[in-house]
Amino acid sequence: MVERSVYALDLGSTKVVCLAARPGPGGEVDVRGLASVSPSGVYKGVVVDLHETVGAIQSAVRKAIQMTGDEDVDLELVVGVGGAHLEYMTGQGLVPIFPRSRPIGRDDVLQVINHSRQIVPPPGHTLIQAVPREFRIDGKRGFQKPIGQQGERLEVDTHIITGLSEYLRQIEEAVQGAGYKIGLMVAVPLASAVAVVSPRDLDEGCAVIDIGAGTSSVAVFENGGLVHTGSFPIASNLVTSDVQQLLKTSADEAERLKIDFGSAMAVDVGEDEAVEVHQAGQTESRPMQRKVLCEIIESRMREIANHAMRQIERGGKSKELGAGLLLTGGGSSIRKSAALFEATTGLKTRAVAPKAIGTMADLASQPGMATAVGLAKYVLQEDEDEIAPASAIGGWKDTIRTLKSLFSGKA
Ligand SMILES: Nc1ncnc2c1ncn2[C@@H]1O[C@H](COP(=O)(O)OP(=O)(O)OP(=O)(O)O)[C@@H](O)[C@H]1O
Ligand SMILES: [Mg+2]
Repeated sequence: MVERSVYALDLGSTKVVCLAARPGPGGEVDVRGLASVSPSGVYKGVVVDLHETVGAIQSAVRKAIQMTGDEDVDLELVVGVGGAHLEYMTGQGLVPIFPRSRPIGRDDVLQVINHSRQIVPPPGHTLIQAVPREFRIDGKRGFQKPIGQQGERLEVDTHIITGLSEYLRQIEEAVQGAGYKIGLMVAVPLASAVAVVSPRDLDEGCAVIDIGAGTSSVAVFENGGLVHTGSFPIASNLVTSDVQQLLKTSADEAERLKIDFGSAMAVDVGEDEAVEVHQAGQTESRPMQRKVLCEIIESRMREIANHAMRQIERGGKSKELGAGLLLTGGGSSIRKSAALFEATTGLKTRAVAPKAIGTMADLASQPGMATAVGLAKYVLQEDEDEIAPASAIGGWKDTIRTLKSLFSGKA
């Protein structure tokens, strides 16, 4: 029997995306089905209109299934959880290895990670993920793959991501209401990073910023490990609403101006460049300086860059991010975003999009698809040694994953 595709579900503020994919010949994300449905009923990671969200999930998943031709029976989705309610903490685990100095096995790794997860989450929170940051063997630091090594004592530091239980429950309710199950939940900052970070970026250190419509998500990697994840509720729809308010236009006109004429570096825009602006209540559009539009955009994008930088500094040593900042998410599509982030943070910055192959590769390779592609990749990059449910009963809550495997492959 041919194996079914994996189905990823991104519940964004502007759209629900269902992406069905299989592993490509070189480990790529081979997209077999992709559907994006708006409106999503979700805002900043939170289900705000359950009925709308259930409908959007149903419609997106059905469309993707039509494209793959898979059977709709017992379908389990890998679902992204985003929003400013996410928090992270550091867990620590330790297991002795008996008999002494036998090679460390998969069970030892599971055991030590599970030990690190015995941490009490903040009030009202549920653990979403525990990602190993670094293993130590007999006190020696810096192991990413301990399996096969020898030692008497295995320790681990894990990056633990939690989310508000109530919001997670609502997401489960929406997925179940649509007739599907959650196979795995993955935090959005990590999912987007998995889509765009190369093994080299991971080794050199980098920060990924996904600028969405309602939320910006940040993930920071140092020395091959995940050291920070976070989200803040300032993103690209605020850029649009600033334009709308200050230029006195409709929301649609502001969105059009932002996408067609916007730039995050107003200094590069000539004084004599004009754009036609249709103001609310006016019958005719009138010319305005494009520079003014770009100053409005720049100001909000600078705020996003400053917030992101504060988060990166919380993660530790921003100076050690050799690969710099990677910008993705639909909001990173504004022209000159990378140049503005570089100027604001002092860190080298590049705008990146996820890579995918297959029938829908063009659509999947847009920056706004980073989360969906990353969710699929998270499951596709399965490595026998490295992924296993900690128990058969807990479902997604007990699934663990080490980091190194996630960034291998060509996807
Ligand atoms: N070509 C473009 N130029 C400028 N902005 C763009 C472009 N395409 C999309 N955007 C902006 O990107 C935002 C949508 O990004 P994205 O699809 O990543 O958000 P989302 O995942 O739905 O929301 P969130 O992750 O915040 O819940 C919108 O604000 C939109 O205006
Ligand atoms: Mg998003």
